[in-house]
Amino acid sequence: MKPVIIDVDTGIDDALAIAYAAKSQELKLIGLTTCFGNIPVEDATRNSLLLAEMLGCDVPVIPGAEKPLTRASLEGYATRVHGNNGLGNAVAPFTPSGQALNAHAADFMIEVVRNQPNKITLIMVGPLTNLALAIQKDPEIVNLVDRVVVMGGAVRCRGNVTPSAEANIHADPEAAEYVFNSGIPLTLVGLDVTMKTLLPREHLKEWEKLGTDFSKLFAEMTHYYMNAYEGFYPGIGGCALHDPLAVGVVINPEFVKTLLMRVDVITSGDAVGQTVEVPDRDSNIEVCVEVDEKAFLEHFLSRVM
Ligand code: BDR
Ligand code: CA
Repeated sequence: MKPVIIDVDTGIDDALAIAYAAKSQELKLIGLTTCFGNIPVEDATRNSLLLAEMLGCDVPVIPGAEKPLTRASLEGYATRVHGNNGLGNAVAPFTPSGQALNAHAADFMIEVVRNQPNKITLIMVGPLTNLALAIQKDPEIVNLVDRVVVMGGAVRCRGNVTPSAEANIHADPEAAEYVFNSGIPLTLVGLDVTMKTLLPREHLKEWEKLGTDFSKLFAEMTHYYMNAYEGFYPGIGGCALHDPLAVGVVINPEFVKTLLMRVDVITSGDAVGQTVEVPDRDSNIEVCVEVDEKAFLEHFLSRVM
């Protein structure tokens, strides 16, 4: 079992990623650290506690950054994609009884990585603020993690939040730039591949049929997410499994093909948040450029449905 910490801004695809990880024997979930992003951090923490309890997963939830590394605040939350509560406005079947740990996500990452040197994989599926804070505090952790897998960026394709930027990088470009240049071993699972891993609507019927608290919530929230995708990209035929693909790549790296690249982050101007391939300089990041979407979708469905 591979020990992982998942850093989330628990909107809908984050929730799908948490379920996928929790239901995969290959992974041992050591912690869910939370960040602002799709929604405010306190909502991401509440949603993560709810999901952990619903999935019967005994994992600590640790709150982290409420704002970007250097900017005063985020421009706006992603309510059109994830709803006001981050779960497509679906009403939760109960209030989570568990409490978040009284610690900061960045300190939790440092402690876990130091306790298990070269063992921990960090799966980052929100803005990179918590990891940037952890590296600033304890730079040696860049040599003590096994790997960092980031859902973020649009290296050879269009962005989603602006024509050139992907949402997680756009939410905190300074944190992304800092992490990308820190020397930490990093795999980027960006829109280049995640816009190809679509979940078609017909699969939601299986959750609806099951009729459990978990399946009803997942069907309702994913319908909301699907509607948002169909609104933004008419005729797309499904919703993008961004965050689940980052988990999938940790379970089975064969789902993707990667290229080593130097990737810079634009931190000002109209292209703020863009991730740019710089071919002439030293390579620093493994970028996913192709995906076997069929194999991934089959695997994802076999675990979460
Ligand atoms: C990423 O942004 C968020 O809205 C999603 O949860 C995902 O992590 C996709 O660009
Ligand atoms: Ca996310």
